[in-house]
Amino acid sequence: MKVYFVGAGPGDADLITVKGKRLLDEADLVVYAGSLVNPDLLTGLKADLMDSNGQSLEATTARMLEALRSGKKVVRLHSGDPSLYGAVLEQMQPLEEAGVEVEVVPGVSSLFASAAALKTQLTLKGVSESLIITRPAGTTLENDELAALSRHGTTLAVFLGIDKIEDVVKSLDRPADTPVAVVYHASWPDQEIIIGTLADIAGKVKAAGFSRSALILVGGVVSRTGFGRSHLYRAR
Ligand SMILES: C[S@@+](CC[C@H](N)C(=O)[O-])C[C@H]1O[C@@H](n2cnc3c(N)ncnc32)[C@H](O)[C@@H]1O
Repeated sequence: MKVYFVGAGPGDADLITVKGKRLLDEADLVVYAGSLVNPDLLTGLKADLMDSNGQSLEATTARMLEALRSGKKVVRLHSGDPSLYGAVLEQMQPLEEAGVEVEVVPGVSSLFASAAALKTQLTLKGVSESLIITRPAGTTLENDELAALSRHGTTLAVFLGIDKIEDVVKSLDRPADTPVAVVYHASWPDQEIIIGTLADIAGKVKAAGFSRSALILVGGVVSRTGFGRSHLYRAR
């Protein structure tokens, strides 16, 4: 008995891996992560579908176990890459305790789709050689580390924070003119990019009306300037 935890990618149905797509086509049951997964990925599958949105962990686990015990192939489909804010371990553990093997098939995170949308690098010589991935406090996190992390001066990727962008911006201990990008629905047909600074991004986001499915990227990499050439393509 085995459950495949598959990364669906950021939205564009073509951005799932070949392996992920093959597993979806072969599956008898697909439990998927609601609105963050493109419905095009689910259209035409022979599998029974279960939206995990609003379901308890016990309910999704029971449904997967029931399918496995009747010899069915089960895929748990997560948005982006399952390892980022996917809460996959808490799903794996009860399955493993029931004797089920799990396999993870990585996916393209919305972080990478956002970098692609911005046509930039997340690590850039002379600008930022490091990337911090984090999120603000919210329903499932009591305290965040935004202020302390921002002081490192690296590229900062903030998930799950667009609905509280004013608080996020206030927490960041960086100069007011630090470039910030917000990528809404990266790789979806209605993708939108807002570019600003720490001083004005919250107002711009509010005016655009985005309150979900967006990533906040902070740092010089957003402006695509001021970088040095790498050694990689130097003439020898
Ligand atoms: C529960 S997390 C899942 C992240 C996912 N595992 C990933 O790797 O992209 C949901 C958050 O991811 C970000 N997100 C997911 N899809 C997105 C997209 N297409 N464009 C921008 N941000 C997205 C948003 O910050 C959203 O609040």
